Amino acid sequence: MGKESKCIIDARNIVKIYQNGAEELKVLDDVSVKVMKNDFIAILGPSGSGKSTLMNVLGCLDLPTSGQYFLDGIDILTAKEDQLAEIRNKKIGFVFQKFNLLPRLNAVQNVMLPLLYRGVEEEEAVRIAKEKLKMLGLGDRLNHRPNELSGGQQQRVAIARAIVGNPPLILADEPTGNLDSKSSMEAIKIFKELNQARNTIVLITHDTEVAEQMKRVVYIKDGRLFQN
Ligand SMILES: Nc1ncnc2c1ncn2[C@@H]1O[C@H](COP(=O)(O)OP(=O)(O)O)[C@@H](O)[C@H]1O
Ligand SMILES: [Mg+2]
Repeated sequence: MGKESKCIIDARNIVKIYQNGAEELKVLDDVSVKVMKNDFIAILGPSGSGKSTLMNVLGCLDLPTSGQYFLDGIDILTAKEDQLAEIRNKKIGFVFQKFNLLPRLNAVQNVMLPLLYRGVEEEEAVRIAKEKLKMLGLGDRLNHRPNELSGGQQQRVAIARAIVGNPPLILADEPTGNLDSKSSMEAIKIFKELNQARNTIVLITHDTEVAEQMKRVVYIKDGRLFQN
C-alpha cells in the first residue's frame, strides 16, 4: 500500500490507434510510464511524435485503445464518464500551449472556474483565485481579460487556474510553445517553484533546453517512449 500510494501515474502498455477510413494510425505504441508524487518530468519529442495524444490519455481526456492506466490508484479504463469528469476536476490541473482561457472572462473569473465546477461558494472562489493570481505576480491584472494581457501573463493566469484547486498532478502540454524566451524562463521558474512546493508536474515539450530543466526526461518518438 505505502509504496503504491507514492505513485500518481501508472500507465502500462498504452496503445492508441486512430482509424482514418480503412487506414490505422498507431500513435501510441506500447507506452509504459510511472510518475511518483513530487516528480517533475519532461516528455520530450518532436512534432507529431504523439505527445498531445499521450497527454490526453494521462489527463483522462481520451481513452487508450488498449493498455492499463491507474491515476492515483484509480483504474481509469473502467471508470464511468462522470467519475472521469470528477477526476479531471479534482486531481489534474491542465496547462496548454494556447492557454485556453475564456476570452469574455477576466483573470479572476477564469481562474475561479474549476472551483465553481466543484461547488465552492462564489465569494470563496474569488478569494482563492485572487490569492493564486497574486502569488503568480498578477495582482495588478485581476480584472483584465485575456486580450488585455501579454502571452506570458495569459500563461500565468492559466497556471493559476491549473493550481487553484490544489490538484495532486499538473499536466502541461507545450506550455512555453507560444511564449518568447523571457516569458518561457518565467513560466519554467514558476513550475520549478510549484514542484518545490510538492506539486507533481508532467511537462510535455519539443524543446530540449526546456526539458533539461526538469528533474527527469523521457523521450517519445513515433509513439514509443524511451527512458534512461
Ligand atoms: N484525432 C486524431 N485523429 C487522427 N489522427 C490524429 C488525431 N490526433 C492526432 N493524430 C495524429 O497522431 C500523430 C501524433 O499527434 P500528436 O499527439 O498531436 O503529436 P504531438 O503533440 O507530439 O505533435 C500525428 O500524426 C497526428 O496527425
Ligand atoms: Mg502536441
